[in-house]
Amino acid sequence: MKFQNPKGTRDFYPEDMAVLNWIMDGWRRVSIRNGFEEYEGPIFEYLDLYKAKSGEGIVSELFHFEDRGGREMAIRPEMTPTLARMINARAQSLPRPIKWFSMPRLCRAERPQRGRLREFFQWNIDIVGSDDVLADAECIFVAVDFFREVGLTPADMVMRINSRSLLSSLLAARGFEPERHADLFVVLDKRDKLPPEVYAAELAKVTRNDAERESLNIISQARGERGLADLAAMAEGNEAAGNELARLRELFETLNLMGVGEYCEFDMGVVRGLAYYTGVVFEGFAKGTFQRAICGGGRYGQLLEVLGGPPMSGIGFGTSDVVILEVLTELKRLPAEIGAGRRTDLFLIDADESLFREVVRLAAELRRRGFCAEYSYRRQGIGKQFKQAAAAHARRAVIVGAEFKERGVLAVKDLGTGQQVEISAEAFLADPMQEVSV
Ligand code: HAM
Repeated sequence: MKFQNPKGTRDFYPEDMAVLNWIMDGWRRVSIRNGFEEYEGPIFEYLDLYKAKSGEGIVSELFHFEDRGGREMAIRPEMTPTLARMINARAQSLPRPIKWFSMPRLCRAERPQRGRLREFFQWNIDIVGSDDVLADAECIFVAVDFFREVGLTPADMVMRINSRSLLSSLLAARGFEPERHADLFVVLDKRDKLPPEVYAAELAKVTRNDAERESLNIISQARGERGLADLAAMAEGNEAAGNELARLRELFETLNLMGVGEYCEFDMGVVRGLAYYTGVVFEGFAKGTFQRAICGGGRYGQLLEVLGGPPMSGIGFGTSDVVILEVLTELKRLPAEIGAGRRTDLFLIDADESLFREVVRLAAELRRRGFCAEYSYRRQGIGKQFKQAAAAHARRAVIVGAEFKERGVLAVKDLGTGQQVEISAEAFLADPMQEVSV
């Protein structure tokens, strides 16, 4: 019988693992330099945690199961509810703002397609316990900080930013009752994701007449500086919308100050699918052929409270290894040297079989001291062992020959320069990577 990996999952062979580690090292480095601390949670949670506030979209994509005690569980499809639960448990003692990051492995029973799999690693950045625009800006900055570091320029991507609270106040002013907003957001979020006729049908379900649809189209098309100006005119006399617009302007000013303004653009069309967002929402898009969001996040005003915690708001975003790989592969920006494989410091070679025990002993000693030391599993001639040393990209070959037994001397060859010296085992062990010069 032949087995395959489940649909929508990936096997990570060592060369794939090298790429994943390169991405994750970048996530961790960027998180730490921006002042975030790492956390983790369980890979499954009680199903109810997601039913509380994530919204229909994500709940319909859950892998769930019943444990032996009949409790309903779900494999985590996102990290934000776990983060909220964990912060709630220690809300009184954590100094604020709480700046945390995580790189969980997540599962969603989505239809696998380009950039969307059923299992992926998602980098999460969150700032909880501050309502300041500075937190919104910092969060967006961190995303751009990473994308810029892996080589994306404003010509390659754009961070589209909106505010759900601005949208809400404009909708309310046009007669859309607040109870309807959540359903409207779900549909508006799909505007660019569905074929136009399917989108129109969905829109028809949540609107009452052409006038409403016309209003929604006008509002959600506002984009860029021009869009902001149009909305300002529309918001004349509407205090709530005016305040939200002022907050957005401050956000864009702060992003300019941080030097990432050219990556960012206002776009009323970005609404986001998750139910818990209440304020600023944003999504990163690559400008190539990859048509899905490369990151997404926003401010959640009530999530912690809904999950039984204090009234504390947070802002954060997620992005995954899958989308980053898609975009960097398309742009041919994945550095060639990743995946080049392991690099051995020292490859030990026996000049004849009787010395193999010395090779094993010496290699163990070198490894204990922190060096990557290897040797051949097969007893074979020196030439073949040198070939193996080259295949392992070893920097030095150490030949254990008859002189070792006679005089305690080893031959050390620098495989880069080809220089070889004889050296006492004692002097060698004192500094195994010392320069080899004749
Ligand atoms: P999300 O929009 O569901 O938000 O996902 C964020 C990002 O994760 C997406 O933009 C995409 O890059 C990646 N992603 C999502 N689903 C998949 C998938 N099936 N395969 C590969 N990549 C995927 C959230 O998850 C929020 N919890 C983010 C957040 C953190 N909001 C506040 N803090």
